[in-house]
Amino acid sequence: MASTVLIGAQWGDEGKGKIVDVLTEEADWVVRYQGGNNAGHTVEIGAEKYVLHLLPSGVLHAGKRCVIGHGVVVDPVALMGEMRDLEKRGIDLRGRMFVSDRAHVVFPYHRWIDEYREKKPAGSKIGTTKRGIGPAYGDKAARTGLRMGDLVSADFPMLLRSRVEASNRILEALDAPQVDGAEVLREYQEAAKYLAQFVADPIPMLNEATSRGERVLFEGAQGTMLDIDYGTYPFVTSSSATAGGACTGTGVPPHRIDRVVGVVKAYSTRVGEGPFPTELLDATGELIRKVGHEFGATTGRPRRCGWFDAVVARYSVMVNGIDFWAVTKLDVLDELDEVLVCVAYEHEGRRIETVPACARALANCRPVYVRFPGWKSSTKDATSFEQLPARAQDYVRQLARLTGTPVGILSVGPKRDSTMRFDLTGQTVKG
Ligand code: GDP
Ligand code: IMO
Ligand code: MG
Repeated sequence: MASTVLIGAQWGDEGKGKIVDVLTEEADWVVRYQGGNNAGHTVEIGAEKYVLHLLPSGVLHAGKRCVIGHGVVVDPVALMGEMRDLEKRGIDLRGRMFVSDRAHVVFPYHRWIDEYREKKPAGSKIGTTKRGIGPAYGDKAARTGLRMGDLVSADFPMLLRSRVEASNRILEALDAPQVDGAEVLREYQEAAKYLAQFVADPIPMLNEATSRGERVLFEGAQGTMLDIDYGTYPFVTSSSATAGGACTGTGVPPHRIDRVVGVVKAYSTRVGEGPFPTELLDATGELIRKVGHEFGATTGRPRRCGWFDAVVARYSVMVNGIDFWAVTKLDVLDELDEVLVCVAYEHEGRRIETVPACARALANCRPVYVRFPGWKSSTKDATSFEQLPARAQDYVRQLARLTGTPVGILSVGPKRDSTMRFDLTGQTVKG
């Protein structure tokens, strides 16, 4: 199989890291194309657990080449820390890891601006990860940002000076602490010294690789409903978390992409503020949080939990061109008496079947549910679809039917071997 874009089809944390790890076997390159260290992608291999924030999850496979594309915003100090941690764990990144010289740099003033803009009551703030992501993309769009190529150049001290001055004026207006330019310079030059060997121009690299028939796996971060355009604006992140971002964020053109895999949980979660029509504010929501260990991989915040939303999933299929689903965390629903799926919304007395543009309208949508009986037995050890309890099989078929999209991968646990692959055999689960 040739090049694949893998995206989150909900509000992030769908289990993208795990599925990327599974699919990396068939890839030559694994590429991050947007977001930054707001992402937290978990991969469990045997007794080892890795949480990757900036590095593509494919780095855990020896010899695979990995790229941080120019659509990503890079905190170089965080990246250096992540790379050094992996080196300590015996993972060699030299010669196979490339960071785009066009990728924008996240600075401490971006983090402070993010933090101080968020000092608002719940409901009016976004609930960001406070990693400086929005302000860094803001500087990119305002054409005042600095890029990785600048960071490793001799001009960096001069370029940084004017950025620190301008940013300190913004910090002053926010009653936030000023940043010390000399301290930032020292810290960032240390990171630059380490990262210089990895900074490159991946555009020709990836285009030549795809011309030779090498396979690229594009690892989306966040999810469709957090995308700057398609998500629940303004309760979104600041990048293109949908499939199109893979092209704009790497320079690989659309005709080089062969398939799009959408990752969805068998239910829904969201972390941070913003509308979430199927949210469960009751004991069932708490049970899902507990059984699914639904706490943020980046910030540790409890994730809001709710039922699977087929309206969101169908919208995701439409805007990403999803060929098949990777459904994760089916096992988390094992104990429930009943499992619900939202198939439409009711809004001001009308039934609607797509996601409204306005977050206030979405917040006023009431989900219309169909109910399925729970299977009340473990799915954890199943290695084939037939081994699943009949009601669990039926639930997966219903997810395919209600979203008009087949299920190609099914995950029933965090580890590699808790994964069923129907796309390999062509026997995807249809509705
Ligand atoms: P990502 O951001 O999309 O990569 O997802 P996260 O890593 O933030 O969150 C997903 C969590 O679910 C991680 O802790 C994974 O180890 C875990 N996980 C992934 N797939 C499964 C699964 O099928 N079952 C269970 N129980 N856990 C899973
Ligand atoms: P992965 O890749 C879940 C959410 C934040 C907040 C909003 C904006 O692990 O799925 P930001 O810091 O990006 O400005 O925050 O987006 N958010 C995520 N939620 N998973 C993520 O990444 C997220 N990255 C950002 O909680 O609501
Ligand atoms: Mg995550």
